[in-house]
Amino acid sequence: MAKAIRFFELNTGAKIPSVGLGTWQSSPGVVGEAVALAVKGGYRHIDCAEIYENQKEIGTVLKKLFDDGVVKREDLWITSKLWCNSHAPEDVPESLNRTLQDLHLDYLDLFLVHWPVSMKKGSVGFEPENLTQPDIPSTWKAMEALYDSGKARAIGVSNFSVKKLGDLLAVARVPPAVNQVESHPVWQQHKLHEFCKSKGIHITGYSPLGSPGTGSIKTEVLKNPVLSKVAEKLSKSPAQVALRWGLQMGHSILPKSTNEARIKENFDVFDWSIPEDLFAKFSEIEQERLIKGTGFVHETLGAYKNIEELWDGEL
Ligand SMILES: NC(=O)c1ccc[n+]([C@@H]2O[C@H](COP(=O)([O-])OP(=O)(O)OC[C@H]3O[C@@H](n4cnc5c(N)ncnc54)[C@H](OP(=O)(O)O)[C@@H]3O)[C@@H](O)[C@H]2O)c1
Repeated sequence: MAKAIRFFELNTGAKIPSVGLGTWQSSPGVVGEAVALAVKGGYRHIDCAEIYENQKEIGTVLKKLFDDGVVKREDLWITSKLWCNSHAPEDVPESLNRTLQDLHLDYLDLFLVHWPVSMKKGSVGFEPENLTQPDIPSTWKAMEALYDSGKARAIGVSNFSVKKLGDLLAVARVPPAVNQVESHPVWQQHKLHEFCKSKGIHITGYSPLGSPGTGSIKTEVLKNPVLSKVAEKLSKSPAQVALRWGLQMGHSILPKSTNEARIKENFDVFDWSIPEDLFAKFSEIEQERLIKGTGFVHETLGAYKNIEELWDGEL
């Protein structure tokens, strides 16, 4: 029987829409149109970040959608993220204020610490010289203050390993509501999934299609033979099957597209499901982390000498 999965409940009691539009690498000039098409087509969740450098355009479109009565603010879920150059406690509220101003909003539904990585205040780019030592407990305290203020209705993290989540939970007054991490059939994250489940932390899966537009990624998730076979059996596209897999794992998912047909295709994942026998086939897929964070590690600078340290061996 088909199962509709449209929301997941967070530990705050809020309901996060299960499919959100990704906006990383959605160029200025096209991202606004993509957001408008998505919202008009039923999406109620947009995933943003200051580092994507397109929030102003998204904000202009959101304002128009509200002004034109297409959707009400309270019916949309907007996530954004604190970039690594704003981890100092005094920079955290400033970063949120900038994002709110760019998005023309007075609150976010979810504000995430983008990476467990710190960079020099105000630094631009990914040069290793920018890397500094993160102090996640201090940054998190500042995030908690934003939660208290109501400007961020939920707070969470992104790219946190089981170890880093455990360390955070040990000091947090407000536990993270979400950990946004890479998740798709080729990087299923079972260990993190079980840990998050046991702690009431919701997983949002990023790059749910395997980020095929990212040049440095050579593995083509959408061409995986298991995915192709299941797609053929269900008369769905491999992208839809990858997305539906994420929903059935209990994750919200953030497919990015700026193409009208694919924005629609990626939202057509609610009134059917992958039956148990086919779902079991996903355990045969060889696992590989595709977004490795190599730009955040350095032999002598910053907190992590190599990607094993960044991910605490969860590779
Ligand atoms: N927290 C983090 O550190 C982090 C990291 C990465 C991503 N994210 C978030 O997650 C979102 C999604 O991840 P992502 O952008 O890396 O990759 P993705 O959503 O896995 O893949 C996007 C790529 O797939 C193409 N595509 C979209 N729908 C398709 C379909 N139905 N069939 C075939 N190709 C399709 C898109 O091209 P078209 O646009 O031409 O359709 C684009 O090139 C991001 O946009 C961002 O919001 C967060």
